[in-house]
Amino acid sequence: MKFDGTDLYAALIHELKNNLGLLAMTLESIPLQGESGHDGAVDASRLLCQGVVDRLHQALRVYKAADQQIHPAIDAYSPHDLVHAVRDRTIALCRGRLHVETQLDPDLPAIWFFDRDLIEMALINGIHNALAHAASTLRIEASMREGCLALIVRDDSAGYPAHILASMATDGPYPTTGTGLGLRFSRLIAQSHDNKGRSGELRLCNDPGAVFCLMLP
Ligand SMILES: Nc1ncnc2c1ncn2[C@@H]1O[C@H](COP(=O)(O)OP(=O)(O)OP(=O)(O)O)[C@@H](O)[C@H]1O
Ligand SMILES: [Mg+2]
Repeated sequence: MKFDGTDLYAALIHELKNNLGLLAMTLESIPLQGESGHDGAVDASRLLCQGVVDRLHQALRVYKAADQQIHPAIDAYSPHDLVHAVRDRTIALCRGRLHVETQLDPDLPAIWFFDRDLIEMALINGIHNALAHAASTLRIEASMREGCLALIVRDDSAGYPAHILASMATDGPYPTTGTGLGLRFSRLIAQSHDNKGRSGELRLCNDPGAVFCLMLP
């Protein structure tokens, strides 16, 4: 999918405006310390704030390149370390609201080649979505599939709506409840990872909850 830089900036600014508006409203509603409802509203504010920070971080990575392309800095990293780091961030983000599990394939290689920072950002997009939609459980998995490292965020939500799955298959635009930048950024990040003539992919499916899968060649 091709992005027009101006459209992306407009979508980004629109999203940040909405999120900061929501954050201001949530902060406004925080009861005094010690009053009931205090912790929930503080947690919601933290999550909103972290979402804005994560989005700005990845937007800067994507846009700072003059040609608006993502140039990954590929190096050797441990998939085990990556999954554990993402699990720790997820636990911090969800504050006990969801049960967070990991599943590492016994055949997982000790190292794989990718841009650690970018791939963590892509996974965090899947995590933010799971936090918004999961009923009770989120699982981060790593395994080998079709010769690629498969990094998966799986949840027990009702699954992706059909139009999202269809638009992912055709690379087309999709209507969303939010700005819909999360999946697009993740797909761009996956596609920017190529190796031996093969490009990375973002694959989405329902099983029966949402399954967000980054395939890294
Ligand atoms: N884990 C999930 N379970 C169910 N539906 C999901 C899940 N993740 C995403 N979706 C659906 O896919 C849409 C697109 O997701 P995407 O992350 O691209 O955008 P967004 O979450 O709406 O906004 P943004 O990520 O830009 O803040 C969502 O609006 C939602 O309808
Ligand atoms: Mg999202």
